[in-house]
Amino acid sequence: MTELVVKELTKKFGDNLVVNNISFTVPSEKFVTILGPSGCGKTTVLRCIVGVEKPDEGKMNLGDKILFSKNDNMLIPTEKREMGMVYQSYALWPHLTVFENVAYPLQIRKVDKNEIKKKVLDILKLVKLDGLEERLVPNLSGGQQQRVSLARALVYNPSLLLLDEPLSNLDVVLRDEMRTELKDLQRRLKLTTIYVTHDRTEALSLSDYIIIMDKGVIKASGTPIELLRNPPNSYAGIILGDMSLIRGKIKENNEESTTVSVGNDVINCRKESKWEENEEVGILIRGTEVIIHNNKRPVQNVIPAKIKSATYAGQIVEYKVIVNEQVIKVPKSIEEFIIPEEGSNTTIHSLHESGEEVFIEIPESACHLVKE
Ligand SMILES: Nc1ncnc2c1ncn2[C@@H]1O[C@H](COP(=O)(O)OP(=O)(O)OP(=O)(O)O)[C@@H](O)[C@H]1O
Ligand SMILES: [Mg+2]
Repeated sequence: MTELVVKELTKKFGDNLVVNNISFTVPSEKFVTILGPSGCGKTTVLRCIVGVEKPDEGKMNLGDKILFSKNDNMLIPTEKREMGMVYQSYALWPHLTVFENVAYPLQIRKVDKNEIKKKVLDILKLVKLDGLEERLVPNLSGGQQQRVSLARALVYNPSLLLLDEPLSNLDVVLRDEMRTELKDLQRRLKLTTIYVTHDRTEALSLSDYIIIMDKGVIKASGTPIELLRNPPNSYAGIILGDMSLIRGKIKENNEESTTVSVGNDVINCRKESKWEENEEVGILIRGTEVIIHNNKRPVQNVIPAKIKSATYAGQIVEYKVIVNEQVIKVPKSIEEFIIPEEGSNTTIHSLHESGEEVFIEIPESACHLVKE
């Protein structure tokens, strides 16, 4: 049982409140990701957990062991915390070989020499670095250095693995490969893991649970699916789901529907009784479900809009569309350029250009209302 419980963790640097009273649990054997933008306090949280930074307030337990408790004046030193950490910049020793780097945590724990050799060689095999034991670290590729760092974190069977943006220095192809390997390793070894990233794709593809941070606080947490389906606020919808936010006012909330005024237009949203008439709300919009039409259509939720820009990214063109002076991102597969128009035999090549006036259809299922 290696569940990590963090309660009311606070860390200041001078007057700068970097981690502001956050609480979360990492269940045993689960993969939990902390997602947030640069400077929001992710590394500081990890450094408090691993024990290289002393929190100002709070309490942390790993299983039944207290790591830190402000009230009980307890602080367990790093080397007694049974954690392995891959630092953001790998923090390997350039003058040491691969073997020596990985052996280091065992040496400081005074493990027997033969035992060290066996453990290091085993773990290097696991991360596919066998044969490179004697190589100096600067003579390795970025991906290999990343693996050395991972091997060093894993070599003494940590109860908790902490990974601080471990893939951000790798090229796209290697990053994809390492992501799969990491997840595979975590599952096989049943490691309780905290992974820090600012990349939504990494968070979504790796995690059992995601914690979304901003400016030292937790804005949302849950499983990837929960957070994608029901983001509790606009911050979560935008950072994780790449949704767009437009502002409006509840027009009607009756037995049948919840409607929102956006300028002179009205959008029907999924019925939710909690909203009051005239209440200001945000509509989070899942752009993948939005349809761009050349002409007004006699269906619900079709409103005038203007193409702001069209940017190509691989097989996708991402439109930015202006609605009532607000921007909605609408990604389209290039396959969708050719759409047979209803009631006609002709085919419309609907590739849109910036400045073009269009109509967009925002299906009810693409809308999710939030207060803030
Ligand atoms: N030792 C320190 N002394 C003073 N300020 C610090 C220290 N360490 C971090 N900070 C500040 O705390 C804030 C949070 O830093 P932190 O490294 O935790 O962010 P982060 O979310 O990991 O960012 P990134 O994604 O860029 O790595 C930043 O404003 C940073 O400048
Ligand atoms: Mg960081």
